[in-house]
Amino acid sequence: MPKPVKIAPADGKLGVLIPGLGAVSTTFIAGIMALRRGLAEPIGSLTQMGTIRLGKRTENRIPRVKDFVDLTSIDDLVFGAWDIFPDNAYQAAVKAGVLDRDLLDQVREDLDPIEPMQAVFDRRFVKNLDGPNVKSGKTLWDLAEALKEDIRAFQARTGAQRLVMIWCASTEIFLKEARAHQSLEAFENGLKNNDPNIAPSMIYAYAAISMGIPYANGAPNLSADIPALEELASSKGVPLAGKDFKTGQTLMKTILAPGFKARYLGLSGWFSTNILGNRDGEVLDDPESFKTKEESKLGVLASILQPHLYPSLYKDLYHKVRINYYPPRGDNKEGWDNIDIFGWLGYPMQIKINFLCRDSILAAPIVLDLALLLDLASRSSMKGIQEWLSFYFKSPIHAPELYAEHDLFIQLMKLKNTLRYLKGEDLITHLGLEYYD
Ligand SMILES: NC(=O)c1ccc[n+]([C@@H]2O[C@H](COP(=O)([O-])OP(=O)(O)OC[C@H]3O[C@@H](n4cnc5c(N)ncnc54)[C@H](O)[C@@H]3O)[C@@H](O)[C@H]2O)c1
Repeated sequence: MPKPVKIAPADGKLGVLIPGLGAVSTTFIAGIMALRRGLAEPIGSLTQMGTIRLGKRTENRIPRVKDFVDLTSIDDLVFGAWDIFPDNAYQAAVKAGVLDRDLLDQVREDLDPIEPMQAVFDRRFVKNLDGPNVKSGKTLWDLAEALKEDIRAFQARTGAQRLVMIWCASTEIFLKEARAHQSLEAFENGLKNNDPNIAPSMIYAYAAISMGIPYANGAPNLSADIPALEELASSKGVPLAGKDFKTGQTLMKTILAPGFKARYLGLSGWFSTNILGNRDGEVLDDPESFKTKEESKLGVLASILQPHLYPSLYKDLYHKVRINYYPPRGDNKEGWDNIDIFGWLGYPMQIKINFLCRDSILAAPIVLDLALLLDLASRSSMKGIQEWLSFYFKSPIHAPELYAEHDLFIQLMKLKNTLRYLKGEDLITHLGLEYYD
């Protein structure tokens, strides 16, 4: 058997730092409080409900993931957040309208004390929002320093031994890599000179990484996935993950598309549209924020289907994604997909999906798993891009020479094999010929 990797124990409290105290993050935090009180089960969370097969199928060793690897217990999580609105976690959760008031009232005493710290915010990057709870500073460098000060104060206040940061704030506008993103030196100069290409999410990421705190981006905007911050993460030995939580329509795509490809069924069109009425929908109503989301959603199919390898099946695929802001629906999004496929002799068929989805309900367990697994990565001295966490993202970040792996089932295998590797267990290849020798 291979040698296990040295993993520092998950002793003490883990602080989860969250820019953005909105629908996803309050659903996550309130959910943890409900779990602690035994009011619910951690449905949707691989770290809490998942199992992992070890060794041969005849050995019948299938522990729970959380019993196999030393993960922080949900009882040891503490939460800190920033938002441009001053509402505490209870008020923000009520406004988000995801969870029933009755459930929120049962955990209110846990949520009330979670008050958002002042945000680093610039309307140029999120056009449809504005709020009063915002830091001011002469330079972006000063703002990064203020975030670091918040983090030190949070740690002193809560006694957290270790920290992770997960961006759950609004989607910023579409940005291309600029000179200030190319190296750490250029980036730090940019902070000092207020370079307009540095977005708030990059400042949070910079503050976290430079303090040795793992960072994940739950939104599709450019953030830590720039050479400057990747350089900082490798030199500081910090894990990075991202980006854009894989929930809703895209989750369905990455479940279905590998199935079509596995059976060599062709695709001529995939039209996805949805209506949602939460704040995320409002932000995405701005074309520049939508462009960021659109790029993230469109990349998935081409990458799974590999049209360059199967031109007659996928070269002419017409893929369209629409998001429509429709306030009456709140967080309860409704998505429609029309999929035009073709089979033997080119005969066409259609599949229709109508997903009455709850985005934040799907995203909350992802935030939990990422917090625990990023902390595991950090305790295992894994640094830089954590491709094994692609399972959770629509646009997995990856080394520049690789293409992203979007297939949910390959991503799951990669994740579980990484856990086996960390613990010195044999990797599972699914070959299985030995059972028939
Ligand atoms: N819900 C999902 O399934 C899902 C899936 C993938 C990605 N996402 C992304 O996750 C993010 C959060 O989604 P949500 O539904 O909770 O949105 P939300 O609008 O309810 O919450 C985002 C919060 O971030 C705050 N904010 C904006 N800029 C900020 C800044 N610079 N600093 C601190 N706070 C800031 C906003 O005031 C808001 O309260 C969005 O970017 C969304 O696109 C969500």
